[in-house]
Amino acid sequence: MTISAKATPQTLGDSIVAHPLDPLTAEEIAKASAILKMERRLGPRVRFETVVLRESEKAEVNGFRAGDAVRREAFLVVLDNDEAATYEAVVALDTGQVVSWKHVPGVQPRVMFDEFVECEAAVRADSRFQEAIKKRGITDPSLVMVDPWSAGNFGFDDEEGKRLVLCRNFARSSPNDNGYARPIEGVTAVVDLNSMEVIRVDDYGLVPLPPDDGNYAAEFVDKFRDDLKPLDITQPDGPSFRVDGWSVEWQKWHLRVGFTPREGLVIHTVGYEDQGRVRPVLYRAALSDMVVPYGDPGKDHYRKNAFDAGEYGIGSLTNSLTLGCDCLGEIYYFDAALNTGNGEAFTIPNAVCMHEEDYGILWKHTDWRIGKTEVRRSRRLVISSVATVGNYEYGFFWYFYQDGTIQMEIKLTGIINTAAVEEGEIPKYGTIVAPQLNAHIHQHFFNFRMDMCVDGDNNSVYEVNTVAAPPGPDNPHNNAFYAEKTLLSTEHEAQRVVDPMSGRYWVVSNASTPNALGQPVSYKLMPGENILPFAHPEASIIKRAGFMTKHLWVTPYQRDEISATGPYPNQHPGGAGLPEYTKDNRNVENTDVVVWYTLGYHHVPCPEDWPISPVAYCGFSLKPVGFFDTNPVLDVPPNDQCDPSCHG
Ligand code: NI
Repeated sequence: MTISAKATPQTLGDSIVAHPLDPLTAEEIAKASAILKMERRLGPRVRFETVVLRESEKAEVNGFRAGDAVRREAFLVVLDNDEAATYEAVVALDTGQVVSWKHVPGVQPRVMFDEFVECEAAVRADSRFQEAIKKRGITDPSLVMVDPWSAGNFGFDDEEGKRLVLCRNFARSSPNDNGYARPIEGVTAVVDLNSMEVIRVDDYGLVPLPPDDGNYAAEFVDKFRDDLKPLDITQPDGPSFRVDGWSVEWQKWHLRVGFTPREGLVIHTVGYEDQGRVRPVLYRAALSDMVVPYGDPGKDHYRKNAFDAGEYGIGSLTNSLTLGCDCLGEIYYFDAALNTGNGEAFTIPNAVCMHEEDYGILWKHTDWRIGKTEVRRSRRLVISSVATVGNYEYGFFWYFYQDGTIQMEIKLTGIINTAAVEEGEIPKYGTIVAPQLNAHIHQHFFNFRMDMCVDGDNNSVYEVNTVAAPPGPDNPHNNAFYAEKTLLSTEHEAQRVVDPMSGRYWVVSNASTPNALGQPVSYKLMPGENILPFAHPEASIIKRAGFMTKHLWVTPYQRDEISATGPYPNQHPGGAGLPEYTKDNRNVENTDVVVWYTLGYHHVPCPEDWPISPVAYCGFSLKPVGFFDTNPVLDVPPNDQCDPSCHG
């Protein structure tokens, strides 16, 4: 485990690069694109989907010592709109050379932000579209909100090989309106993003616009509640963490923060200081992809599903966070440098928020015989980012606790997707959330890729179920139950689903460094609320997002196996990612394992979700089980503010 706090930083352009895992700086992004443009003579019709750090081989990262030279490579994906062709490139930033250039046939890079903007303009300007909205009484196309949806893949011949989006549209009376209150039901413009032409406008028949404006912004609220007194969070001596570049140290935790346009927030090289050394836990953790399948079979609503990482680049849609609004107290912000469609760099200031939170009590016991209480307060380090993907907001919150627990909490908010229905209609596949406004049933599936390294790389994964012992001579009083541990030794054995009734969890163990009690040091993956998809196994979305069908997947580490849906999920026919990675059923016992956890959030909308949904939460935890020899937080001191009477 490398701690870069003592590193001698290297200067590259204006920014400092101190470690091989530091994300590309704005200068490096611009330089990588410029090198590729020049070397490959790329014209103005080429779009840059991705310009990111090509992360070094793990051995190189683990062997890195402060002050070592940092080798920097950029990985790029470009789309040639004229040729409708996708290319991958690796550029060595030190030598200024293109070290690899490869055509990737039959794939579609994700939908880029510039394409959203150009696409909206193309739809508004289309005469067939203008005609269709005029039939619905809408005369000003400039006020229509055009939402491009990834087209998916339904095997239609006329869509084969085309780069398509389906544009669903909403009427506004002013740009400040809640755009999702008045869906222009039944009108979908299909756009070819390579030619940026509307290829057709589908009209499924007239449905009136819903009557209510659904406005929720402060200027539309008549009266605010007036009984909230100030709640200030102050840390007069500053926060307890130390930051150096992308390296963070807090309460025995050592980790690095990273960021990519596709995954958003990335956590690298997480270790916990114990017995005089930093013991590794996680090499890399990030959202690998996510998808939101909708349950309405009608019109073209059956095509609604969005891979928000793989198809839209959730990192590139990350919010710039604001002190006092998004984050309270003593905040440290990381900025994210990302690429635009033409390969230039842009920065999202305050893309990642880091702060400490009081989290109630850490542990407590009162000995009533002597009237003495011992209690400690718990604190957690919060590293988070929030992205806006069309109508929805997703917050990704990594929590690090003093006792060695790591938690991922997703906060879902924003505006539910809507459709208009006739007055009095009661929809089967959705809920009326406002007059004539239908919110379809849907699910949000997330997959987190966690490259584990529990006290080193040689890890094995076990499933633990609690079993009721059968009645008999060993169980004469019928009370017996016990935890049963089963090794998951291959990729197929390790494809599992949750079972709350057996108290099921999974542990990642390292048998080569037992704890003081002789047990293999372990971390457990503790599932939270979860669900499986409801789409039929033959549905397009099940093939395209096969990762949803299992909550646990385990693979042996491979450098390029990064996404549960593969590198190019946009319009992919299916089978890529985890189903493909695991088809050879590789060994995952006593090796460098990657654990992939799928988390489903089930959403049956309700009126309280409208016009904006209060945050819903879901997530999971990684908890030490025998990783330490004993409770690791006995050394947390009593709180200064603790009333002395509390301690007897
Ligand atoms: Ni939802």
